[in-house]
Amino acid sequence: MVYRIKDIQEQLSVVAEDMEKYVRKNKIKVSKDGNISAKAYQAIFDFYSIESAKIDNKSVYVLNGHKIEVKQKPFYESENGTVSLFQDDAINFLKNLPSASVDLIVTDPAYSGMNQRLKLGRGKIIGTYADAGKKGAKWFEEFRDSEENYKTLLQECYRVLRNNRHIYIMFDSYSLLSLAPIVRDVFEVKNVLCWDKVNIGLGHYFRRRHEFILFASKGKRHLNSKNIPDVWKIKRVVHSKYPTQKPTEVFELMMKGSADKDFVVCDPFLGSGSAAIAAIKSSCKFLGCDIADNALTFSKERVKQFLETKTDMYQKSSLLGDDEAMTKLFLNGKFK
Ligand SMILES: C[S@@+](CC[C@H](N)C(=O)[O-])C[C@H]1O[C@@H](n2cnc3c(N)ncnc32)[C@H](O)[C@@H]1O
Repeated sequence: MVYRIKDIQEQLSVVAEDMEKYVRKNKIKVSKDGNISAKAYQAIFDFYSIESAKIDNKSVYVLNGHKIEVKQKPFYESENGTVSLFQDDAINFLKNLPSASVDLIVTDPAYSGMNQRLKLGRGKIIGTYADAGKKGAKWFEEFRDSEENYKTLLQECYRVLRNNRHIYIMFDSYSLLSLAPIVRDVFEVKNVLCWDKVNIGLGHYFRRRHEFILFASKGKRHLNSKNIPDVWKIKRVVHSKYPTQKPTEVFELMMKGSADKDFVVCDPFLGSGSAAIAAIKSSCKFLGCDIADNALTFSKERVKQFLETKTDMYQKSSLLGDDEAMTKLFLNGKFK
C-alpha cells in the first residue's frame, strides 16, 4: 500500500503549507512522489485528526465512566453511561472519535455491492430500495462501498482502534471478493470465519446459508481462547422486525475471542443493536452508530429494555445451532 501526504491533506482538509512545516519539524522522510512510511502516515493522521477535533465547534460530549470525548451528542445514552448510540454516517462518526479510543470493532456494514450484483433474473433478490432509510421503510440505506470510500472507512477504524486490538468485519460472498484486499492493506487479516446460518436462504444458484467474517488485528494480540472454531453454527433470526438483524451470539463470539471486561466495543453500522446487546452481556462498554432513524429507534428501545429487565425484545431465545463446540463455548466457556 502507498501512503501519501496528499491523501491526509485531502481527507482532513489540512492546509498544504501547515503540513509541510509539520513534516520538516518532525524530520519525516518523504519520497520524490510524496510517499511516506506507514508509521509516519499514522502519526501525521493522528496529529491532524486531534487538531481538527480541537478546531471544530461541535459540542464536546464525555462518555461517563470512561474517558472518551466524542464531539457529538448521543441519540441515546444509558443511565449507567455504558452504552451510547449516535445517529450519523459511519465515517463521520468515526472521524469524531479520538485516535486509539476503542478496544474492539465488530461491524456488519450495509454494502452496496451485494444488491447490484444480485440483479439477476427478474430483479433484485433482496427487495426494493426505493424508500431505503426513510421512516417506515422496509429496507435501509446502503453504505457506498467504492474502493475509496471503503478505504477511508477502514483507515478511520484503524485510527480509532487502540494498538494490539482486534476488528471483526462481516461480509456477504460478493463483497468479500471485492473488498477483502482493501482490509488486508489496512489491517493484518488473521482468519476468514464462516457464520453457518444452519437454515437455507435465498439464492438463484446454490442457496445461501453462510456469511463471512474477516478477523484482523492492529498490532499483536492473542485470542482469549484457542478453542473457538472458524465455522460458527448459529441460526439466522427469522421474522425479524429489522432487516438483516443478526443473532447476538455472532457478536458474543467475537467478544469471547477478543474482549476483556470493560473494553470499549464499537459498531458503526448498528442496525437493530445486536452488537450492543452482546456487549452488555460480555460486560463491555459500547459505542454504536447508524445513519437511519429506525435503526436508532429500534436499538434504543432494545438496549433500554435489556438493561432494565435482562430480556431481549428482538431475540427472545438462543439461536445456537446443534454444534458441540458452540454449546461448550456458551455454557461452560472459561476463556482465560
Ligand atoms: C447490515 S445492517 C446492520 C445489522 C445489524 N448488525 C443487526 O444485527 O441488526 C447495516 C446498517 O448500516 C446502516 N447504514 C447504511 N449506511 C450507513 C452509513 N453510511 N453510516 C452508518 N450506517 C449506515 C443501515 O441503516 C443498517 O442499519
